[in-house]
Amino acid sequence: MDYKNHIASILSSNVDISIDELEKLVEIPPKSDMGDYAFPCFSLAKSMRKAPQMIAQELKEKIKDNNFEKVEAFGPYLNFFVNKEILIKNTIEKILKEKDLYGSNNDGDGKNVIVEYCSANIAKPFHVGHLFTTMLGNSLYKLFNFHGYNAIGINHLGDWGTQFGKLIYAYNNWGDEKALEKEPIKEMLRVYVKFHDEAEKDPSLNDEGRRHFKLLEDGNEEEVKLWTRFRDLSLKEFDKLFKMLNVSFDSFAGESFYSDKMDAVIEEIDEKGLLTDSQGAKVVMLDEYNMPPCIIKKADGATIYATRDLAAAFYRKKTYDFYKNIYVVAKDQALHFNQVFKTIELMGHQWANDCTHVGFGLVRFADKKLSTRKGDVVFLEDLLNEAVAKTLEIINEKNPELENKEEVAKKVGIGAIVFTYLKNNRERDIVFNWDEMLSFEGETGPYVQYTYARGRSILRKVGEGLDENIDYSKLNSKEEFELVKELGNLENVINFALDKLQPCMVTRYCIDVAKAFNKFYNAHNIANSESEEIKNARINLVKATLQVLKNGLSLIGLEVVEKM
Ligand code: ARG
Repeated sequence: MDYKNHIASILSSNVDISIDELEKLVEIPPKSDMGDYAFPCFSLAKSMRKAPQMIAQELKEKIKDNNFEKVEAFGPYLNFFVNKEILIKNTIEKILKEKDLYGSNNDGDGKNVIVEYCSANIAKPFHVGHLFTTMLGNSLYKLFNFHGYNAIGINHLGDWGTQFGKLIYAYNNWGDEKALEKEPIKEMLRVYVKFHDEAEKDPSLNDEGRRHFKLLEDGNEEEVKLWTRFRDLSLKEFDKLFKMLNVSFDSFAGESFYSDKMDAVIEEIDEKGLLTDSQGAKVVMLDEYNMPPCIIKKADGATIYATRDLAAAFYRKKTYDFYKNIYVVAKDQALHFNQVFKTIELMGHQWANDCTHVGFGLVRFADKKLSTRKGDVVFLEDLLNEAVAKTLEIINEKNPELENKEEVAKKVGIGAIVFTYLKNNRERDIVFNWDEMLSFEGETGPYVQYTYARGRSILRKVGEGLDENIDYSKLNSKEEFELVKELGNLENVINFALDKLQPCMVTRYCIDVAKAFNKFYNAHNIANSESEEIKNARINLVKATLQVLKNGLSLIGLEVVEKM
């Protein structure tokens, strides 16, 4: 039950304010002896021409609702104490009935939402920043689907542009066929880095790069063949990572996909009188909006990144008629997206307002910014493997007898990294620290997963309990009530996360549930409960908690483990 909404609807029959507005006014008091919810009557004083204290008194007399065990007037506040027994029964029964669907709803029925994430560059290593967009986007994708939207996951691959002319030239001159077969990305990176080194000595190589890209754009057989091979090999490598991370996409339409769709957009920009010449290049002037011009065509006639993004946005609108078009891309590209969205708006398309850039911060180890150009880079596969190996060490120490250790280490180790990414406001930078993120205590993935496994182990010991005839009035301790209250919040938390486009709200929620569960578990012995009835009620509380943890973790891209 959504108590805030319920309180608003009770009040609305007594006062002259809409339910929506009332709902926004309902507060959660700082101390539990002031009730579970409070309504401040100040805002009614004017329209009712009475002191808020009096209004609180009067309303208190009028409210009769057995969802509350009492309603008190406390100065200008109306304090609501929920009927714990009803709350506990309803919440646990709902969770156990809805199972994997608990927390979901149909808010987004009939709405298409595009979530663009990952968008890695082919022929280059997938780096820690790409893992950030991949996991953020994966979570948003799942959250939207969970609330009834039809999410479309697009991996807008960086697979077009002059750099592929350079790569083709480099590979033709310095490439090693065997190495390409064996470790494609490393080999492509090697020749690409060599190209840059050589071009520093001999800048004419850059012209060679441009020439080969032009040949590729014109569909010249040799270039197309090589480029296709680079792309296929890259995707095969990426796919290994996607499998490890358990993420998927509905479309891989990347930059190359739009190579033949740009002319139409450029024409429209021109028709609308927005195209300006600037030192040979074609641009859309945006100085009125305090932005540098959006470059549409370079002086040599080549189209660029922004043009491809414009073409992509138009294609998406036409193909999916999106309700929202979300780009999960590093924060430092904010200007680029603002330019693109503004250009679409100036072209007269209202739907520019439905396009959103979801930015995120930097990822660092110690104090180094990671870049691929100089070959100074952390390979993601190595990072994931390291997390798994380190987790395996910890398991070997803590629980050497555990079956299928490797599988558990994979889920927990990779989960720990994913959890670290999604734990804080996405705009914040992340500094990786192994000890911190792999710790079984503190606010970590392993902590939440361990809590789940602990719950499973309790159930293995005490049995699965009963499905019916549970007397929930037996759950009358503070810890039990606090835990149930937390369990009741999942759907609301997802609403917030979707509204703010912040999966961290779900991650933090998982931590809160785990904490509340551990408090309950430390205070009450389930196996030796005071009576069989209490035991059965507690068993269901454990089952409900585990279900909520499973649902929450899955929405941020983690899988639970039975034992660890
Ligand atoms: N490929 C780019 C990169 O790795 C990100 C692409 C972002 N998406 C977009 N529609 N521009 O930096």
